[in-house]
Amino acid sequence: MYDLKGRDFLCLKDFSGEEILQLVKMGLEFKRRYYSGERKLPVLEGRSIGLLFQKPSTRTRISFDVAAYQLGAHPVYLSWKELQLGRGETIADTARVLSRYLDGIVARVYSHKDLEELASYSDAPVINALSDLSHPAQIMADLMTIYEKLGRLKGVKIAFIGDGTDNVLNSLMVAASKLGITMSIASPREFHPNRELLEYSVSTAEGTGGVIDVIEDPVDAVRGADIVYTDVWVSMGQEDEAERKKSVLKNYQVNSSLIAHAPRALFMHCLPAHRGEEVTDDVIDGLRSIVWDQAENRLHAQKAILSVFIK
Ligand code: CP
Ligand code: NVA
Repeated sequence: MYDLKGRDFLCLKDFSGEEILQLVKMGLEFKRRYYSGERKLPVLEGRSIGLLFQKPSTRTRISFDVAAYQLGAHPVYLSWKELQLGRGETIADTARVLSRYLDGIVARVYSHKDLEELASYSDAPVINALSDLSHPAQIMADLMTIYEKLGRLKGVKIAFIGDGTDNVLNSLMVAASKLGITMSIASPREFHPNRELLEYSVSTAEGTGGVIDVIEDPVDAVRGADIVYTDVWVSMGQEDEAERKKSVLKNYQVNSSLIAHAPRALFMHCLPAHRGEEVTDDVIDGLRSIVWDQAENRLHAQKAILSVFIK
Protein backbone atom coordinates (compact mmCIF):
# COMPACT_ATOMS: atom_id res chain seq x y z
CA MET A 1 0.00 0.00 0.00
CA TYR A 2 1.16 3.52 -0.73
CA ASP A 3 2.38 5.34 2.32
CA LEU A 4 -0.47 7.67 3.18
CA LYS A 5 0.20 7.64 6.93
CA GLY A 6 -0.10 11.09 8.44
CA ARG A 7 -1.85 12.55 5.36
CA ASP A 8 -5.26 14.20 5.61
CA PHE A 9 -8.26 12.59 3.90
CA LEU A 10 -10.27 15.65 2.89
CA CYS A 11 -11.03 15.31 -0.81
CA LEU A 12 -10.70 12.44 -3.31
CA LYS A 13 -9.01 14.84 -5.73
CA ASP A 14 -5.91 14.42 -3.56
CA PHE A 15 -5.59 10.70 -4.36
CA SER A 16 -4.91 8.66 -7.46
CA GLY A 17 -7.34 6.11 -8.88
CA GLU A 18 -4.90 3.40 -7.83
CA GLU A 19 -4.84 4.67 -4.22
CA ILE A 20 -8.65 4.81 -4.13
CA LEU A 21 -8.88 1.29 -5.51
CA GLN A 22 -6.39 0.01 -2.93
CA LEU A 23 -8.52 1.51 -0.14
CA VAL A 24 -11.62 -0.17 -1.58
CA LYS A 25 -9.86 -3.52 -1.68
CA MET A 26 -8.61 -3.06 1.89
CA GLY A 27 -12.18 -2.39 3.03
CA LEU A 28 -13.31 -5.61 1.35
CA GLU A 29 -10.47 -7.50 3.04
CA PHE A 30 -11.40 -6.08 6.47
CA LYS A 31 -14.98 -7.24 5.84
CA ARG A 32 -13.88 -10.71 4.75
CA ARG A 33 -11.70 -11.10 7.84
CA TYR A 34 -14.49 -9.82 10.10
CA TYR A 35 -16.85 -12.49 8.78
CA SER A 36 -14.20 -15.17 9.08
CA GLY A 37 -14.03 -14.46 12.81
CA GLU A 38 -11.26 -11.83 13.06
CA ARG A 39 -13.42 -9.15 14.64
CA LYS A 40 -10.49 -7.28 16.13
CA LEU A 41 -7.37 -6.50 14.13
CA PRO A 42 -5.46 -4.27 16.52
CA VAL A 43 -3.28 -2.43 13.99
CA LEU A 44 -3.93 0.90 15.78
CA GLU A 45 -3.41 -0.36 19.33
CA GLY A 46 -2.69 2.51 21.72
CA ARG A 47 -3.95 5.26 19.39
CA SER A 48 -6.76 7.70 20.23
CA ILE A 49 -9.04 9.07 17.55
CA GLY A 50 -11.30 12.11 17.99
CA LEU A 51 -14.72 12.11 16.34
CA LEU A 52 -15.64 15.79 16.06
CA PHE A 53 -19.22 16.40 14.90
CA GLN A 54 -20.85 19.75 14.20
CA LYS A 55 -23.90 18.10 12.57
CA PRO A 56 -26.00 15.02 13.40
CA SER A 57 -24.88 11.59 12.22
CA THR A 58 -25.94 7.97 12.62
CA ARG A 59 -23.88 5.91 10.19
CA THR A 60 -20.65 7.93 10.07
CA ARG A 61 -20.37 8.51 13.80
CA ILE A 62 -21.08 4.92 14.81
CA SER A 63 -19.10 3.24 12.04
CA PHE A 64 -15.97 5.31 12.80
CA ASP A 65 -16.40 4.66 16.53
CA VAL A 66 -16.77 0.89 16.07
CA ALA A 67 -14.04 0.81 13.41
CA ALA A 68 -11.60 2.49 15.81
CA TYR A 69 -12.53 -0.03 18.51
CA GLN A 70 -12.07 -3.00 16.15
CA LEU A 71 -8.62 -1.67 15.22
CA GLY A 72 -7.63 -1.43 18.89
CA ALA A 73 -7.80 2.39 19.07
CA HIS A 74 -9.75 4.52 21.55
CA PRO A 75 -12.48 6.66 19.92
CA VAL A 76 -13.36 9.94 21.66
CA TYR A 77 -16.66 11.52 20.61
CA LEU A 78 -16.46 15.32 20.53
CA SER A 79 -19.59 17.35 20.05
CA TRP A 80 -18.63 20.67 18.46
CA LYS A 81 -21.01 22.69 20.56
CA GLU A 82 -19.94 21.05 23.82
CA LEU A 83 -16.27 21.87 23.27
CA GLN A 84 -14.99 25.40 23.89
CA LEU A 85 -15.41 25.74 20.11
CA GLY A 86 -19.08 26.23 20.90
CA ARG A 87 -18.13 29.25 23.05
CA GLY A 88 -15.84 30.81 20.48
CA GLU A 89 -12.41 29.17 20.90
CA THR A 90 -10.89 29.27 17.44
CA ILE A 91 -10.62 26.26 15.14
CA ALA A 92 -6.85 26.83 14.94
CA ASP A 93 -6.35 26.76 18.72
CA THR A 94 -8.64 23.74 19.05
CA ALA A 95 -6.68 21.88 16.36
CA ARG A 96 -3.35 22.68 18.03
CA VAL A 97 -4.61 21.29 21.34
CA LEU A 98 -6.51 18.26 20.02
CA SER A 99 -3.52 17.08 18.04
CA ARG A 100 -1.44 17.02 21.25
CA TYR A 101 -3.83 14.35 22.59
CA LEU A 102 -5.10 12.55 19.53
CA ASP A 103 -3.54 10.52 16.71
CA GLY A 104 -6.28 11.49 14.25
CA ILE A 105 -9.38 13.68 14.01
CA VAL A 106 -12.46 12.55 12.10
CA ALA A 107 -14.54 15.70 11.56
CA ARG A 108 -18.01 16.53 10.22
CA VAL A 109 -18.53 20.25 9.65
CA TYR A 110 -20.89 22.66 7.95
CA SER A 111 -18.25 24.54 5.98
CA HIS A 112 -15.50 22.71 4.10
CA LYS A 113 -13.23 25.71 4.78
CA ASP A 114 -13.44 24.92 8.50
CA LEU A 115 -12.26 21.39 7.78
CA GLU A 116 -9.30 22.75 5.81
CA GLU A 117 -8.48 25.14 8.63
CA LEU A 118 -8.67 22.33 11.17
CA ALA A 119 -6.33 20.24 9.02
CA SER A 120 -3.87 23.05 8.49
CA TYR A 121 -3.40 23.60 12.24
CA SER A 122 -3.57 19.95 13.32
CA ASP A 123 -0.41 17.85 13.53
CA ALA A 124 -2.61 14.75 13.47
CA PRO A 125 -4.30 13.70 10.22
CA VAL A 126 -7.83 14.99 9.68
CA ILE A 127 -10.43 12.75 8.02
CA ASN A 128 -13.48 14.28 6.35
CA ALA A 129 -16.67 12.83 7.81
CA LEU A 130 -18.81 15.10 5.55
CA SER A 131 -18.78 18.80 4.80
CA ASP A 132 -21.06 20.95 2.68
CA LEU A 133 -18.71 20.18 -0.26
CA SER A 134 -17.91 16.49 -0.02
CA HIS A 135 -18.28 13.12 1.69
CA PRO A 136 -15.33 10.97 0.60
CA ALA A 137 -15.66 8.41 3.41
CA GLN A 138 -19.15 7.58 2.14
CA ILE A 139 -17.82 6.99 -1.34
CA MET A 140 -15.26 4.43 -0.19
CA ALA A 141 -18.15 2.28 1.14
CA ASP A 142 -20.17 2.92 -2.03
CA LEU A 143 -17.32 1.77 -4.26
CA MET A 144 -16.82 -1.31 -2.06
CA THR A 145 -20.50 -2.12 -2.46
CA ILE A 146 -20.46 -1.74 -6.24
CA TYR A 147 -17.31 -3.87 -6.46
CA GLU A 148 -18.94 -6.54 -4.28
CA LYS A 149 -22.13 -6.63 -6.33
CA LEU A 150 -20.75 -6.23 -9.86
CA GLY A 151 -17.17 -7.50 -9.51
CA ARG A 152 -15.71 -4.41 -11.15
CA LEU A 153 -15.65 -0.62 -11.08
CA LYS A 154 -14.15 0.32 -14.44
CA GLY A 155 -16.84 0.58 -17.08
CA VAL A 156 -19.73 0.59 -14.59
CA LYS A 157 -22.50 3.06 -15.42
CA ILE A 158 -23.97 5.08 -12.53
CA ALA A 159 -27.00 7.34 -12.92
CA PHE A 160 -27.29 9.98 -10.19
CA ILE A 161 -30.75 11.51 -10.02
CA GLY A 162 -31.67 14.66 -8.10
CA ASP A 163 -29.73 17.47 -6.46
CA GLY A 164 -26.65 18.19 -8.56
CA THR A 165 -25.22 20.37 -5.77
CA ASP A 166 -25.11 17.41 -3.37
CA ASN A 167 -21.94 16.79 -1.36
CA VAL A 168 -22.11 13.01 -1.85
CA LEU A 169 -22.46 13.48 -5.60
CA ASN A 170 -19.36 15.71 -5.64
CA SER A 171 -17.23 12.95 -4.14
CA LEU A 172 -18.83 10.22 -6.25
CA MET A 173 -18.17 12.21 -9.42
CA VAL A 174 -14.50 12.74 -8.57
CA ALA A 175 -14.02 9.04 -7.71
CA ALA A 176 -15.84 7.94 -10.88
CA SER A 177 -13.60 10.12 -13.02
CA LYS A 178 -10.47 8.49 -11.57
CA LEU A 179 -11.73 4.92 -11.93
CA GLY A 180 -13.09 4.89 -15.48
CA ILE A 181 -16.72 4.87 -14.34
CA THR A 182 -19.44 6.43 -16.52
CA MET A 183 -21.73 8.81 -14.64
CA SER A 184 -24.89 10.31 -15.98
CA ILE A 185 -26.15 13.01 -13.63
CA ALA A 186 -29.75 14.17 -14.05
CA SER A 187 -30.58 17.38 -12.22
CA PRO A 188 -32.55 20.52 -12.96
CA ARG A 189 -30.49 23.38 -14.44
CA GLU A 190 -30.81 25.37 -11.24
CA PHE A 191 -29.10 22.62 -9.26
CA HIS A 192 -26.32 21.54 -11.59
CA PRO A 193 -23.05 20.33 -10.01
CA ASN A 194 -20.26 22.48 -8.60
CA ARG A 195 -18.54 23.88 -11.71
CA GLU A 196 -14.95 23.45 -10.52
CA LEU A 197 -15.43 19.81 -9.44
CA LEU A 198 -17.42 19.01 -12.58
CA GLU A 199 -14.73 20.44 -14.88
CA TYR A 200 -12.06 18.57 -12.89
CA SER A 201 -14.02 15.31 -13.16
CA VAL A 202 -14.83 15.67 -16.87
CA SER A 203 -11.18 16.25 -17.72
CA THR A 204 -9.88 13.53 -15.38
CA ALA A 205 -12.33 11.02 -16.90
CA GLU A 206 -10.83 11.68 -20.36
CA GLY A 207 -7.66 9.94 -19.21
CA THR A 208 -9.31 6.91 -17.59
CA GLY A 209 -12.03 5.87 -20.03
CA GLY A 210 -14.78 7.27 -17.82
CA VAL A 211 -17.46 9.77 -18.85
CA ILE A 212 -19.13 12.38 -16.65
CA ASP A 213 -22.24 13.83 -18.18
CA VAL A 214 -24.87 16.22 -16.79
CA ILE A 215 -28.33 16.25 -18.34
CA GLU A 216 -31.81 17.27 -17.27
CA ASP A 217 -33.93 14.22 -18.13
CA PRO A 218 -33.86 11.46 -15.46
CA VAL A 219 -35.19 8.85 -17.92
CA ASP A 220 -32.27 9.47 -20.28
CA ALA A 221 -29.85 9.28 -17.35
CA VAL A 222 -31.02 5.87 -16.08
CA ARG A 223 -31.10 4.12 -19.49
CA GLY A 224 -28.48 1.35 -19.46
CA ALA A 225 -27.46 2.13 -15.86
CA ASP A 226 -25.95 -0.51 -13.58
CA ILE A 227 -26.56 1.66 -10.53
CA VAL A 228 -29.22 4.30 -9.85
CA TYR A 229 -28.09 6.54 -6.97
CA THR A 230 -29.87 9.36 -5.21
CA ASP A 231 -29.52 11.44 -2.06
CA VAL A 232 -31.79 13.81 -0.15
CA TRP A 233 -32.99 16.97 -1.85
CA VAL A 234 -32.34 19.08 1.25
CA SER A 235 -28.97 18.48 2.87
CA MET A 236 -28.08 19.38 6.45
CA GLY A 237 -27.61 23.14 6.62
CA GLN A 238 -29.94 23.86 3.66
CA GLU A 239 -33.17 23.96 5.69
CA ASP A 240 -33.88 27.56 4.60
CA GLU A 241 -34.01 26.42 0.96
CA ALA A 242 -36.19 23.36 1.66
CA GLU A 243 -39.42 24.46 0.04
CA ARG A 244 -37.80 25.74 -3.13
CA LYS A 245 -35.58 22.69 -3.57
CA LYS A 246 -38.46 20.26 -3.02
CA SER A 247 -40.56 22.05 -5.59
CA VAL A 248 -37.82 22.25 -8.26
CA LEU A 249 -36.73 18.64 -7.69
CA LYS A 250 -40.18 17.02 -7.59
CA ASN A 251 -39.77 15.42 -11.04
CA TYR A 252 -36.48 13.82 -9.98
CA GLN A 253 -37.95 11.21 -7.63
CA VAL A 254 -36.55 7.67 -7.99
CA ASN A 255 -39.76 5.61 -8.20
CA SER A 256 -40.82 2.39 -9.88
CA SER A 257 -41.72 4.07 -13.15
CA LEU A 258 -38.27 5.68 -13.38
CA ILE A 259 -36.30 2.54 -12.59
CA ALA A 260 -38.44 0.55 -15.04
CA HIS A 261 -36.25 2.31 -17.64
CA ALA A 262 -33.15 0.71 -16.04
CA PRO A 263 -34.06 -2.98 -15.85
CA ARG A 264 -30.69 -4.23 -14.59
CA ALA A 265 -29.91 -1.35 -12.22
CA LEU A 266 -29.34 -1.71 -8.49
CA PHE A 267 -30.50 1.13 -6.25
CA MET A 268 -28.15 3.00 -3.90
CA HIS A 269 -28.63 5.83 -1.38
CA CYS A 270 -26.12 7.02 1.21
CA LEU A 271 -28.98 7.43 3.76
CA PRO A 272 -30.73 8.90 5.66
CA ALA A 273 -33.55 8.75 3.08
CA HIS A 274 -36.52 11.06 2.98
CA ARG A 275 -39.02 8.44 1.85
CA GLY A 276 -41.67 9.86 -0.43
CA GLU A 277 -39.36 12.69 -1.58
CA GLU A 278 -36.24 11.60 -3.49
CA VAL A 279 -37.18 7.89 -3.32
CA THR A 280 -40.36 5.87 -2.86
CA ASP A 281 -40.77 2.99 -0.39
CA ASP A 282 -41.19 0.40 -3.14
CA VAL A 283 -37.77 1.27 -4.59
CA ILE A 284 -35.76 1.56 -1.38
CA ASP A 285 -37.43 -1.56 0.07
CA GLY A 286 -37.44 -3.37 -3.27
CA LEU A 287 -35.38 -6.33 -4.44
CA ARG A 288 -32.95 -4.14 -6.36
CA SER A 289 -32.10 -1.95 -3.38
CA ILE A 290 -28.62 -2.52 -1.88
CA VAL A 291 -28.76 0.33 0.63
CA TRP A 292 -28.36 -1.84 3.76
CA ASP A 293 -25.23 -3.54 2.44
CA GLN A 294 -24.01 -0.08 1.44
CA ALA A 295 -24.60 1.19 5.00
CA GLU A 296 -22.90 -1.88 6.50
CA ASN A 297 -19.86 -1.33 4.33
CA ARG A 298 -19.26 2.02 6.02
CA LEU A 299 -17.82 0.09 8.99
CA HIS A 300 -15.26 -1.82 6.94
CA ALA A 301 -14.42 1.16 4.73
CA GLN A 302 -13.71 3.26 7.84
CA LYS A 303 -11.27 0.59 9.05
CA ALA A 304 -9.41 0.87 5.75
CA ILE A 305 -9.31 4.67 6.01
CA LEU A 306 -8.19 4.76 9.67
CA SER A 307 -5.55 2.07 9.24
CA VAL A 308 -4.06 3.82 6.22
CA PHE A 309 -4.04 7.44 7.42
CA ILE A 310 -3.45 7.22 11.19
CA LYS A 311 0.24 6.86 12.13
N1 CP B 1 -24.56 8.46 5.08
C1 CP B 1 -24.21 9.13 6.19
O1 CP B 1 -23.18 9.79 6.27
O2 CP B 1 -25.10 9.02 7.21
P1 CP B 1 -25.05 9.78 8.60
O3 CP B 1 -25.43 11.22 8.36
O4 CP B 1 -26.07 9.07 9.45
O5 CP B 1 -23.67 9.67 9.17
N1 NVA C 1 -26.34 15.23 1.42
C1 NVA C 1 -26.66 14.77 2.76
C2 NVA C 1 -25.87 13.56 3.09
C3 NVA C 1 -26.10 13.00 4.45
C4 NVA C 1 -25.23 11.81 4.75
C5 NVA C 1 -26.42 15.89 3.74
O1 NVA C 1 -25.39 16.56 3.64
O2 NVA C 1 -27.27 16.10 4.61
